[in-house]
Amino acid sequence: MQGRVVAITGANRGIGAAAARVFAEAGAQVALLARDQASTARLAAELPGTAIALACDVADAGQVQAAIDAVVARFGRLDVLINNAGVIEPIARIDSIAPEDWARTMQINLNGVFHGMRAALPVMKAQRSGTIITISSGAAHRPLEGWAAYCASKAGAAMLTKAAHLEEGATLRIMGLSPGTVATDMQVRIKASGVNAVSALDPSAHIPADWAARTLLWMCGPAGDALRGQEVSLRDDNIRRQVGLIA
Ligand SMILES: NC(=O)c1ccc[n+]([C@@H]2O[C@H](COP(=O)([O-])OP(=O)(O)OC[C@H]3O[C@@H](n4cnc5c(N)ncnc54)[C@H](OP(=O)(O)O)[C@@H]3O)[C@@H](O)[C@H]2O)c1
Repeated sequence: MQGRVVAITGANRGIGAAAARVFAEAGAQVALLARDQASTARLAAELPGTAIALACDVADAGQVQAAIDAVVARFGRLDVLINNAGVIEPIARIDSIAPEDWARTMQINLNGVFHGMRAALPVMKAQRSGTIITISSGAAHRPLEGWAAYCASKAGAAMLTKAAHLEEGATLRIMGLSPGTVATDMQVRIKASGVNAVSALDPSAHIPADWAARTLLWMCGPAGDALRGQEVSLRDDNIRRQVGLIA
């Protein structure tokens, strides 16, 4: 990662913040994107090397384009984009979801990934190299009660990863990471909802955010070549072993 430039959306807490730390410690120049610039700026200041914080709501295509433009203006290139920003809400049955809440989830979890790819692809294609990893979920592949918006948006994002790989996979590495359940604020909100089997999980069942971050770093190394177009599942012990998370 020495000299590599990495942009991470939703980088002020949870998996995104852990990834910012792991990539910076590996020598990358990291751009932290999140809506709240104050918290990303605090984190960026703690990281080794050169890290920058950019205010960016992934729901807004113009803000994402401006953030990627700012990364390229500052560092001259973009090697990795981690599409991590995401929301679980609304947690509600379909007939009680407000249309604007449904649309907001799509705008962040699905359109936000599109906005990131749309801004990053021309830069990476011109370089003839680059890696785009989108954080997926088991919910992209199986329905869960009360999570229709989340499941549908994550399923769309997983398909977008496949479509982007189809179009650009000959030159770029485009992949998904399904981390399993991770101990972040999102799981705290899921537990508080009391809806479906995920909320009933004991917090000890969740992996630390650092495990997801270390897997992202591993996917950006040589191992990533064999993973093009795929969704890596961190529930898989074989993957955990290859990353070095378990013996
Ligand atoms: N935790 C899990 O068990 C789990 C499992 C599978 C997949 N995932 C996925 O992993 C990713 C990260 O989740 P997490 O668990 O780390 O959640 P988290 O702790 O709730 O963090 C979510 C991050 O996304 C950012 N974000 C939300 N909306 C945004 C927007 N419109 N623009 C920019 N940033 C936005 C948040 O920052 P602000 O709100 O401050 O902007 C925050 O940094 C998500 O895509 C999630 O779906 C999580």
